[in-house]
Amino acid sequence: MNRLRVHLICALLMISSITLGSCAQNKKVSDMEKENNKALVVYYSETGTTQAIAKKISQATGADIYRIEPEQPYTAADLDWQDNKSRSTKEMNDRTARPAIKNGKVDFDSIDTVYLGYPIWWDQAPRVVNTFIESNDLSDKRIITFCTSGETSIDGSVRQLKADYPILDFVKGKRLNGAPVNEIEKWVSSLKK
Ligand SMILES: Cc1cc2nc3c(=O)[nH]c(=O)nc-3n(C[C@H](O)[C@H](O)[C@H](O)COP(=O)(O)O)c2cc1C
Repeated sequence: MNRLRVHLICALLMISSITLGSCAQNKKVSDMEKENNKALVVYYSETGTTQAIAKKISQATGADIYRIEPEQPYTAADLDWQDNKSRSTKEMNDRTARPAIKNGKVDFDSIDTVYLGYPIWWDQAPRVVNTFIESNDLSDKRIITFCTSGETSIDGSVRQLKADYPILDFVKGKRLNGAPVNEIEKWVSSLKK
């Protein structure tokens, strides 16, 4: 009888140590995933629409956020797409235009995922986004794109970014105008590898 009790206690101790051990292991794995998967939300926004989405992505992922700022701010006249002589029209008509940005270089050492957001200008990412990309080494990053627009999808802009920078790993994201945080959370988890 006593022997049976001792065996039972031993068996219970073994089971509980295995369970505790595997919990500790699970915790370590998820912590490691977090540490190894550092993300940064980088965005450009003139009138706040893309900025609002960038903030929600940062909220959903816990990632830091970084704003691309042109050295020379765009005036309302600069942004007039109906004027074929406006600054934005001229820049978008010139594939080599690279407007200077304020704070170009970012420390990407510990970052492996970049959420890159911009408003669509003439079916493309604005040229300051190209300036940003060319000012930084993004070669080993996963670059998940997102955009806002009047109605144009993200497709053309991502096609062009992939053509311009074939060695970079762009993931075609979404047009996210007005998306609530829960929709963004779903989108972010659908992107997990
Ligand atoms: C110069 C310029 C060109 C634009 N071109 C397009 C376009 O081709 N298609 C579209 O749907 N919206 C276009 N838009 C509208 C913007 O993409 C849209 O308002 C965007 O959400 C603005 O984002 P922001 O507030 O973050 O700057 C254009 C806006 C500007 C200023």
